[in-house]
Amino acid sequence: MAFLFYPVRINSNGVYWWRMLKVAIVGATGYTGLELARLLIKHPEIQLVAATTRTYKDLPLSSVFPELTNETHVVCEELSIERISEISDLIFTALPHKTAMEVIPEFLENGKRVVDLSADFRFRNVSVYEKWYQRHTAPQIAKKAVYGLPEIYHEKIKRASLIANPGCYPTGAILALAPLLKSHMINTKGIVIDAKSGVSGAGRSPQIHTIYCEVNEGLKAYKVGEHRHTPEIEEHLSVLAEEEIRVAFIPHLVPISRGILSTIYAPLSNKVSTEELVDQYKKFYDGKRFIRIYPPGKLPNTLYVRGSNYCDIGLKVDPRTEGVIVISAIDNLTKGASGQAVQNMNLMYGFEEDAGLGYLPLSP
Ligand SMILES: NC(=O)c1ccc[n+]([C@@H]2O[C@H](COP(=O)([O-])OP(=O)(O)OC[C@H]3O[C@@H](n4cnc5c(N)ncnc54)[C@H](OP(=O)(O)O)[C@@H]3O)[C@@H](O)[C@H]2O)c1
Repeated sequence: MAFLFYPVRINSNGVYWWRMLKVAIVGATGYTGLELARLLIKHPEIQLVAATTRTYKDLPLSSVFPELTNETHVVCEELSIERISEISDLIFTALPHKTAMEVIPEFLENGKRVVDLSADFRFRNVSVYEKWYQRHTAPQIAKKAVYGLPEIYHEKIKRASLIANPGCYPTGAILALAPLLKSHMINTKGIVIDAKSGVSGAGRSPQIHTIYCEVNEGLKAYKVGEHRHTPEIEEHLSVLAEEEIRVAFIPHLVPISRGILSTIYAPLSNKVSTEELVDQYKKFYDGKRFIRIYPPGKLPNTLYVRGSNYCDIGLKVDPRTEGVIVISAIDNLTKGASGQAVQNMNLMYGFEEDAGLGYLPLSP
């Protein structure tokens, strides 16, 4: 329960905090760190108290990211687990995988709650993580982590001390397929997820394959059949379907900064119309603030979600092939990472689920 982790005052109208929640970002100078800062600085219930980095120590966060000028007084600091634990209630870790699991156990030992954006705690079965990533150095903690996809694991998230924030591709794919699998509407052999991501998905550290001339005006598939998000997608689709699911997952890199469009093909198990399926999706996601189901004839576009926490979903039944095509769009840095992390924090502390997340999409 929230009050086990944080001092609260309760009355008949709900829950009231007696002070702002103090929040730190560990790994604040990457793309998800910046997106967290953008959202947290304007969040009505929290105070951003620290931002850590190895590279930009002692520089104001607003000089690392001039877009934050006059918006925050936070000065970047090197990570000290003792100091961050002392001054914060909740810690967002926006570090590369492997590095995250080196620091999170100590934060938890110090009684802190953590929302981790890396892949280190996303798998129930550590051997799956070890097969696709590397040796796990904190397997005992992995069991306690809750997968932070609020539309599916809402109740567990409220009580969690460690949230494993989902990957960007898994967020778009799982949300697009969940209603079909839960209601056993598709043949589970033959699901194909063709997903296209903007370049910020690869992070801010310079790498040859993400520099301008390598990406601009090009479009390519990569890590076909071997991307690390495949087992994460399969794990949660299997929970929904109550059977083991395997998918063909084909990621692509597209020359846009942010956004993921997932085009998903699945064979239908029964005859159904587009209108009937759209109704099913609307019922499944009824009351879910950040899911927008498009009416028949309209399909999502990454531009319609850019800079917002929305996941837009549209679909079409193809009677010729007896299949359904579901298309989802998210912003990889918002619903695919930092926005979802803030949504998880909101649930953990009993804030409004959309607190600090009310931004409309930034289309051209
Ligand atoms: N980008 C996305 O769309 C996205 C979506 C979902 C999840 N994620 C996950 O979120 C995490 C962060 O991703 P990102 O895209 O923000 O990466 P990024 O842009 O490369 O930033 C990584 C951050 O971690 C710090 N860092 C790097 N290596 C470190 C180390 N060994 N020890 C301590 N700090 C280190 C970096 O700052 P310094 O170098 O200054 O220390 C930087 O602040 C990753 O695990 C990623 O897989 C990313």
